[in-house]
Amino acid sequence: MSQRNSRNHAEAVVAAQEINYTDEFDYDNSSPHLTHDNLRTMVETRMVKLVEQTLARQGSCRVLEVGAGHGTFTRSVLDAGAQITVTETSTASADYLRRTFGDAIEVRFDETGEEILKTEERWDIAVMTSVLHHIPDYLAFLTGLTGLVAPGGSIFTVQDPLYYPRMSKVAHAADRATYFAWRLVQGNYGRGLATRLRRLRGTYDDAAPSDLVEYHVMRDGVDEVAIEKQLSESFESVEIFRYWSTQAKIWQRLGERTRMVTTFGVEATGRRR
Ligand SMILES: C[S@@+](CC[C@H](N)C(=O)[O-])C[C@H]1O[C@@H](n2cnc3c(N)ncnc32)[C@H](O)[C@@H]1O
Repeated sequence: MSQRNSRNHAEAVVAAQEINYTDEFDYDNSSPHLTHDNLRTMVETRMVKLVEQTLARQGSCRVLEVGAGHGTFTRSVLDAGAQITVTETSTASADYLRRTFGDAIEVRFDETGEEILKTEERWDIAVMTSVLHHIPDYLAFLTGLTGLVAPGGSIFTVQDPLYYPRMSKVAHAADRATYFAWRLVQGNYGRGLATRLRRLRGTYDDAAPSDLVEYHVMRDGVDEVAIEKQLSESFESVEIFRYWSTQAKIWQRLGERTRMVTTFGVEATGRRR
């Protein structure tokens, strides 16, 4: 892709977030890490622990949350005692966050999704929940984000699909089957069917918000091994944790009893100077 085409493409992806994440968007309904108590608790516990460790080490903790949505985890991090800056590419979500949190946090509308990477400011922890798979060049984004983390600091990202070519075929099939079973009772069948037909033809439509919003869910997933390798160059420790995650409660409970994993998170700590 030429530089200009790639810029237009990135703009189309960001525009799709704006179209998808409107005032009416229900983050909870389609997000396993918000719907299922155990996943939500796992995310909160890990994030809060990072904040507590930072507070214990240096007495203060600045957190940057990229793509905060409606601020589910912003609340946990705030309650743990951090000072928070959040970014959002959706104006509706940025407004929602301002209304909900008032002056307790700083909300920045990020028109390109990459404005934040140009700042000279530094944070102790950068977090993203269910955001990385929306970003076409997530490795480049993580390089930029690493530059915003202060020495000793961390990056925490979670709820992204494992890289499909490396995922077990059984887990991938179970992931798709449980998604479709859930999708069947969600309505909006016209859009769902059009997406499915494109998938069967093996194509993506850069004018279709569903292909652009869930960017890597629709393509190959997110390459957790490449992320681990890249972050290991800048952080003392990089943990990749893998788990089962799906929308419907029943399939979540059943899937958790197996050894299938579909989703991952990353905790990179000890940013080197
Ligand atoms: C699936 S939602 C997750 C929201 C929230 N983090 C959560 O877990 O509930 C993804 C959010 O990331 C935002 N987003 C996507 N790319 C972004 C970027 N480059 N910078 C800031 N926000 C972004 C979208 O507008 C959307 O609100």
